[in-house]
Amino acid sequence: MAEAVGVVGGGIMGSGIAEVAARNGCDVVIREVDATACDASRHRIERSLDKAVRVGKLTEAERDDAAGRLRYVTGFEEFADRDLVIEAVVEDEALKAEIFRTVGKVTAARGTLLASNTSSIPIMRLAAVTEDPERVIGMHFFNPVPVLPLVELIPSLLTSAETMERARAFAADRLGKHTVVGKDRAGFVVNALLIPYLLAAIRMVETGFATVEDVDVAMVSGCAHPMGPLALADLIGLDTTAAVANSMYAEFKEPLYAPPPLLLRMVEGGRLGRKSGQGFYPY
Ligand code: CAA
Repeated sequence: MAEAVGVVGGGIMGSGIAEVAARNGCDVVIREVDATACDASRHRIERSLDKAVRVGKLTEAERDDAAGRLRYVTGFEEFADRDLVIEAVVEDEALKAEIFRTVGKVTAARGTLLASNTSSIPIMRLAAVTEDPERVIGMHFFNPVPVLPLVELIPSLLTSAETMERARAFAADRLGKHTVVGKDRAGFVVNALLIPYLLAAIRMVETGFATVEDVDVAMVSGCAHPMGPLALADLIGLDTTAAVANSMYAEFKEPLYAPPPLLLRMVEGGRLGRKSGQGFYPY
């Protein structure tokens, strides 16, 4: 049976999650704040579906079927009949908590599984604002979602075994992703390793130890990474990178998680990476 999925947020991650769910037969509703944001999400997904056809990962008929399973809405009431809702808005704890409060109420009768794609905010803080925290879990996808096969599953102390199994089955059996399970600590598994690495690369540039290009060439050519850390920070978004670092620093108080001043200045100046046209590189 096709699952009915809701996605809150049609940015890079929300659109990617919605696209992959639709490609795997789910009926998907994406909620954005207004019609302009809905259009931006639709265009982002159409571009990615077209690319999937170009690189031979989808037929034209499969692309059209997937596009036909996606609906773009501005209200939360459309989530009342969903089996699963995944929140994928910016890394703003107050905003996410407000969304969980609202979606929790709208879906209470159905017992919908509620997931957050947060990169670093403890799941308990989002579960705690709902009336039934046992149906809340972290499901953390990776950018670009249609390409990268990992989903981190993060149960909070209150997540039920049934919620955990439903989330695993959706990610692994329905979407065909690899899953790993992490504890409910800021950063989970991947960002606990990735963020200190990205911040170390930014500090190297900030102190003049090496150029942006040399840092990236070193890791691509010397360690066979698909892209260097500064190009990767631009892909993730420098605002997201800083937000994740801040959450992890707030959680552990370890200097290795503290965002370097250069990163903060770039974010304050609107240099957010690929999405703004300028980060460590121009786009
Ligand atoms: N749908 C399906 N498949 C697609 C696709 C699409 N829309 N677009 C590309 N692909 C496939 C291609 O067919 C190709 O597949 P094969 O390897 O089978 O040939 C593969 O994806 C690579 O595509 P491209 O050749 O177009 O792109 P590339 O080789 O330049 O790679 C990249 C681009 C995928 C971004 C690669 O550089 C990469 O993997 N970089 C690392 C990204 C990464 O680490 N992301 C994680 C960030 S952390 C995060 O997201 C979470 C967080 O909390 C911060």
